[in-house]
Amino acid sequence: MCGIVGHVTSQQPSGRTLEVLLEGLGRLEYRGYDSAGVALAVPDTPKVATAKRAGKLANLRAALEQHPLPAATAGIGHTRWATHGAPTDVNAHPHVADGGRLALIHNGIVENFVPLKAELLAEGVEFASETDTEVAAHLLAREYAASGDLTAALRGVARRLEGTFTLLAVHADHPDVVVGARHDSPLVVGLGEGENFLGSDVAAFIAFTREALELGQDQVVTITPDAVTVTDFDGNPAEGRRYTVDWDASAAEKGGFGSFMDKEIHDQPKAVADTLLGRLDERGRLQLDDLRIDEALLRSVDKIIVVACGTAAYAGHVAKYAIEHWCRIPVEVELAHEFRYRDPIVTPRTLVVAVSQSGETMDTLMAVRHAREQGAKVVAIVNTHGSTIPRESDAVLYTHAGPEIAVASTKAFLSQITAAYVLGLYLAQLRGNKFPDEIRQTLAELREMPAKIQIILDRAQKVRDVARSMADEKSVLFLGRHVGYPVAMEGALKLKELAYIHAEGFAAGELKHGPIALIDEGQAVIVVVPSPKGRDSLHSKVVSNIQEVRARGARTLVVAEDGDDDVVPFADEVFRIPASPTLLSPLLAVVPLQIFACELATAKGLDVDQPRNLAKSVTVE
Ligand code: F6R
Repeated sequence: MCGIVGHVTSQQPSGRTLEVLLEGLGRLEYRGYDSAGVALAVPDTPKVATAKRAGKLANLRAALEQHPLPAATAGIGHTRWATHGAPTDVNAHPHVADGGRLALIHNGIVENFVPLKAELLAEGVEFASETDTEVAAHLLAREYAASGDLTAALRGVARRLEGTFTLLAVHADHPDVVVGARHDSPLVVGLGEGENFLGSDVAAFIAFTREALELGQDQVVTITPDAVTVTDFDGNPAEGRRYTVDWDASAAEKGGFGSFMDKEIHDQPKAVADTLLGRLDERGRLQLDDLRIDEALLRSVDKIIVVACGTAAYAGHVAKYAIEHWCRIPVEVELAHEFRYRDPIVTPRTLVVAVSQSGETMDTLMAVRHAREQGAKVVAIVNTHGSTIPRESDAVLYTHAGPEIAVASTKAFLSQITAAYVLGLYLAQLRGNKFPDEIRQTLAELREMPAKIQIILDRAQKVRDVARSMADEKSVLFLGRHVGYPVAMEGALKLKELAYIHAEGFAAGELKHGPIALIDEGQAVIVVVPSPKGRDSLHSKVVSNIQEVRARGARTLVVAEDGDDDVVPFADEVFRIPASPTLLSPLLAVVPLQIFACELATAKGLDVDQPRNLAKSVTVE
């Protein structure tokens, strides 16, 4: 939530800093798009130069064309997801203080802004905006006036604030410096030659450097063109972890697709393959060298709790079915924000699995901390290197989906499910599963999944045509059983968030316990049908459910395996997927639902990459 970028260069004052900031903001816009703004420090100029506009970055760009900013040597930029104060020009960041000599941007929430504001008002400070952030700007001005040291001043501010924050600031007195501080909110340094960068994530500077420095919690950083200095909030020296980003700028571009979402749906065979890559040895056994956690501990685990939010939580639901079956360990799946605020039963033999694309979701981070405080070990399944959740977990299994830019998750979902399978199969292998042949067979089948996903993508036209014909739909229901149930919920979530259509995912068995009352003439119902070769009578039960809703007037759209003719008499449309074992089928069944939502939203003329009110990385509770 909120994207921030900072840049400082040894070059003579030029347009370079503004170019870097705008490029970075363009790549960070998925973190929030309520407003955008920049502030520049210009040598020998008494005030910082700022520009900010409500709405998307395009509005800021247009304003800058009309009123260009001067050549500069340092600057900060912000794209906002509004928390305190409406998304207006005035509430947009940066916020200035010290008579326009300093500018500050913020990601997070200052929870104690009311008493701090009262304190500053009592001292005669005038506020221009309704934001919590402006308090931090004026506090920084006060601290700076006292010490004349911008870094020490920011440390002073960081010690006063409660809540979550990443702060960046520039001051007209120091046109070769950007200072930053982080507490429970992301901040990464980008290392260049004769220039350095700061960003909420590496996307902020990936067009300029792949060399990065991961900062720890509660640290303050000062960047100049040639140096990066890190301390804690008390001024004690600290060190970041240096790493090279394993993707380049082109991976975060549309590559000829109409939207990032469409591109990322098409990236899915690779995302799944890359998440498996290097984790299977030549004998077909799992080797998880990167999962640095005591094997004896994994053997002793007597309960697993998956904590996650949204789509990542649906990946956790799929994991539950698979891990319980393979490992015979009870698995609970809990929304991270619910887990954190009740009194969950967690012991040192509980393994908590935190699933997160961004690695920054505040609710999930808080759940991780809570679990560790109770003595549990935490394994993170995360996509973003350098993020906070893996840093605060005992072990991490990275998904290798590459950068996910569209706000709605697609390829991260498939790679999360894949990583959860890998973890489950590894646990089964480690703990001596009773059915070693089944585990070997499942691993072999898992390796075939990328090719099967590709088959679905190659046949997407049918789904697209149906989706386009449904642009006026007001409500769509999704049904599934077993692993088809989380797939149904994910299909409904995609449709809600992209197309703004009311959509609900139900366990098909629950239908008769209430939801069937919603079925009326013409109600669209999408049904995820399990494999006819699957477990027990699951398939015939779902076929009966299709008949039940159809008998009451529903229009049925069915996701079914190739060759499953049982569904044909009762389906208005059939979206075909290749055959697969039931437990692995979510990797396939969800793909038509993603394409359906993306296409329907596109047909409605909506922005599928940046749906209203959302932000990619939810870094506030
Ligand atoms: C929906 C979506 C969200 C995220 C959720 C968790 O398309 O993307 O529901 O899955 O906000 O985000 P991460 O995985 O970054 O923790």
